[in-house]
Amino acid sequence: MPSRIGILTGGGDCPGLNAVIRAVTRRLLDKNAEVVGVREGWRGLVDGLFQPLGYREISGILPRGGTIVGTSRTNPYKSEEGVERVLSTFSEEGLDALVAIGGEDTLGVAASLNKEHGFPVVGVPKTIDNDLSSTDYTFGFDTAVFIATEAIDRLHTTAESHNRVMVVEVMGRHTGWIAVMSGIAGGADMILIPEQPVTVEQACTDLKHRHERGKDFSIVVVSEGYELTYESGEQRAVAQQAELDQFGHVRLGGVGDALAQDIEERTGYETRVTVLGHVQRGGSPTPRDRVLATRFGLHAADLVEQERWGRMAALHGDEIVDVALEEATRELKKVPERWYRVARAFFG
Ligand code: F6P
Repeated sequence: MPSRIGILTGGGDCPGLNAVIRAVTRRLLDKNAEVVGVREGWRGLVDGLFQPLGYREISGILPRGGTIVGTSRTNPYKSEEGVERVLSTFSEEGLDALVAIGGEDTLGVAASLNKEHGFPVVGVPKTIDNDLSSTDYTFGFDTAVFIATEAIDRLHTTAESHNRVMVVEVMGRHTGWIAVMSGIAGGADMILIPEQPVTVEQACTDLKHRHERGKDFSIVVVSEGYELTYESGEQRAVAQQAELDQFGHVRLGGVGDALAQDIEERTGYETRVTVLGHVQRGGSPTPRDRVLATRFGLHAADLVEQERWGRMAALHGDEIVDVALEEATRELKKVPERWYRVARAFFG
């Protein structure tokens, strides 16, 4: 059994991170191991930033959003000697194992370190985007969907009262999980996601059809990663900032505005936009996310005890299992056609 274990959280903060930290720490402390918080994701191992984690530090954190050990989008593979520093800091700090809690980027680094250097790491799948492969759900997603659904419910009020089209832009990066789930739950009249390139013209035809049959308002949910697609074949990606981060991502945002303009021009309906942004990642996790995060955390601690490096806790059906980190981070999990079909039944 490893005796000194680090925990880090990387990438965007996400409801449920503290619930995982609590579960991992609690189980490992109960096995008489020592637990250390690695501050700010991989940056903590590059720059040597640590904090002790004991029973007192994890007390009361289960319902808290954010992460008590901080996070960042640092990629050690992008800085000079980054990987060497991770490896040397890890051994200088006397660590025997690491629990990495993150999405495709953070866990992608964990998978590479494990493969290339035999690094003793296990993973826990986090992201509001729900785009990690090999697990049915990631924690944080349920909370984001809950928040987006509540927002859609509230926007119905104004849409109905003012006969408007309300466009709601949600997060999700290059997959439309949040858009599809919150759109179905909130009764959206049109949902646009990256995986199903419905054209703007088709979306407007569906909205007109709906209005012709007596409805004088509509709710359109658009995923930030949807590229405006036209019948001419033209496609237009919208981003807030084209500059790439250390993992090669642009900062998405703004497609809602562009889409609203297109809808208003083509249909003549007054159209307004709401961008939900980081509200979707904020605050307390839902009970479902707290439970999932807790189960993932306990499983990750057990993987550490069994020294099963390179594995990630995952949800298959109702069971917590573990899968290879390499497999989970190989490609994004996209929204399958069968989910979009459920949403589409209510368009037009
Ligand atoms: O991956 C989570 C996420 O919230 C995405 O949905 C979004 O595109 C991105 O992070 C935003 O990142 P940041 O908080 O760095 O702006």
